Amino acid sequence: MIPVIAIDGPSASGKGTVAERVARVLGFHYLDSGALYRVTALAARRAGLAPDAAGPLGELAAQLPVRFEGGDIYLSEQVVTDDIRTEDCSREASLVAAVPEVRAGLLVRQRAFRQAPGLVADGRDMGSVVFPDAALKVFLTASAAVRAERRYNQLMNKGIPANMQVLLRDIEARDARDASRAVAPLQQGNALLLDTTHLTIEQAVDQVLSWYAAARPPAS
Ligand code: CDP
Repeated sequence: MIPVIAIDGPSASGKGTVAERVARVLGFHYLDSGALYRVTALAARRAGLAPDAAGPLGELAAQLPVRFEGGDIYLSEQVVTDDIRTEDCSREASLVAAVPEVRAGLLVRQRAFRQAPGLVADGRDMGSVVFPDAALKVFLTASAAVRAERRYNQLMNKGIPANMQVLLRDIEARDARDASRAVAPLQQGNALLLDTTHLTIEQAVDQVLSWYAAARPPAS
């Protein structure tokens, strides 16, 4: 069985950075499942679909011409790596992610990332729905204030203007929506809690690696 490390958590918790680094250290593949919801939201906007048009959105998700290549994300032949990181796209992603047809449409595609020698997957429902048999499940979080600050720095580094108060409000609204939706809500479940409010990225990565070393069956 190809091992999976599932890292779920709320927005801007740093799980993407931690997941990517853990994957690099172990030589595993990496799935940024949030990017799939973001690309779906972008494609829906471009197709003029309303965020509650369940049927057409589900079809769009199932047939999404998305590709991850050389650190970039493509929608058809167009690079959308930066377009999907705007706050508008974050909000729209969380809206389309509440549509069951969209989640069903993206399921098979997410599971296809499970390839040898292993996968680190980050999102909201990696451990609960997509990879319930993951070797290690982590719920990575941080206080809302620290997450707003991290998102602010991330946007500033990309030259995208941002306002801390607005970011904090958006993060809290998105958390509430992700945690309260009927399908695949964000919850800790049986995952190990990793609160990174007072941790550096390196400390968070080390914690995940040592949990994984402890969880992994000894090589025979
Ligand atoms: O970067 P951030 O953590 O804010 O968001 P993301 O991981 O890129 O995910 C964007 C949105 O997609 C989230 O607000 C969730 O609503 C949704 N999502 C989801 O529902 N399930 C996942 N496995 C991943 C993301």
